[in-house]
Amino acid sequence: MDQKDKVLEAVSLIHERIKHQPRVAVVLGSGLGAFADSVQEAIEIPYREIPGWPASTAPGHAGKLVSGLFGNTPVLVMQGRLHYYEGYSLSEVVFPVRVFGEMGIPFYFATNASGGISHSLAPGDLVLIYDHINFQGHNPLRGPNEGSWGPRFPDMTFAYDRELMDLTEVSASSLNMQIRRGVYAAFTGPSFETPAEIRMLRLMGADVVGMSTVPEVITARQMGMRVCAISCVANYAAGMYEKPLSHVEVLQEMEKASGKLVNLLQSVILKLGEKMQ
Ligand code: HPA
Repeated sequence: MDQKDKVLEAVSLIHERIKHQPRVAVVLGSGLGAFADSVQEAIEIPYREIPGWPASTAPGHAGKLVSGLFGNTPVLVMQGRLHYYEGYSLSEVVFPVRVFGEMGIPFYFATNASGGISHSLAPGDLVLIYDHINFQGHNPLRGPNEGSWGPRFPDMTFAYDRELMDLTEVSASSLNMQIRRGVYAAFTGPSFETPAEIRMLRLMGADVVGMSTVPEVITARQMGMRVCAISCVANYAAGMYEKPLSHVEVLQEMEKASGKLVNLLQSVILKLGEKMQ
């Protein structure tokens, strides 16, 4: 079975189970699962029940889809994402994005935890990603191009939707929350970066670093989805502090900061819902 058939099989199972055609797909990063609790009329679908859908193995990632309403907006939330470091191929990592694209979902919201590279960022800060650097050494679109999914050479100049960025900033200021724009660099992990790699990334103009999001965004853009990505700084990047990095610390910091990101996401989706009326 080719990838497109697998995706269509997953789409038909999801359509059989859910009640509302989603308008917004939301991917929750490490420690950010709480957003899914505020979805009304929630229907949960564990990843293992969806044909072709890879299991989520990373700590802090629940491994289920939650469909329902947020305000008046039908949403489909991925509680737990897939990462390249788990051993999946990039086409497996972006399988959910293919499914969302085939379902005709127009908006893709990504969240993640990151290491802060910029000297003006501290743990707990929110960053609105306006561009990225792909340091994973691979591209999810490599291989034969499925023409119905989009162009062979998609544009990345406008990968992050300007209107959604504005909406996010307006929402943040109405909540009295600080958010600044930044460039996200993706490494594969699972080891954290070295201090030398962080110095290199800073020289190259990256503000935050993480192990996800970029393959999803490339795929979502190829399929014409409009993308918004918000990062929460979980730690100072390697070498900025005389102390080793640990995933436990990332999750602890995200536990403290996740309320803020979840509130912001809720406000943005409500505002987007009003605009779509
Ligand atoms: N590096 C990479 N990924 C991360 C980090 C980091 O410092 N913090 C949270 N995710």
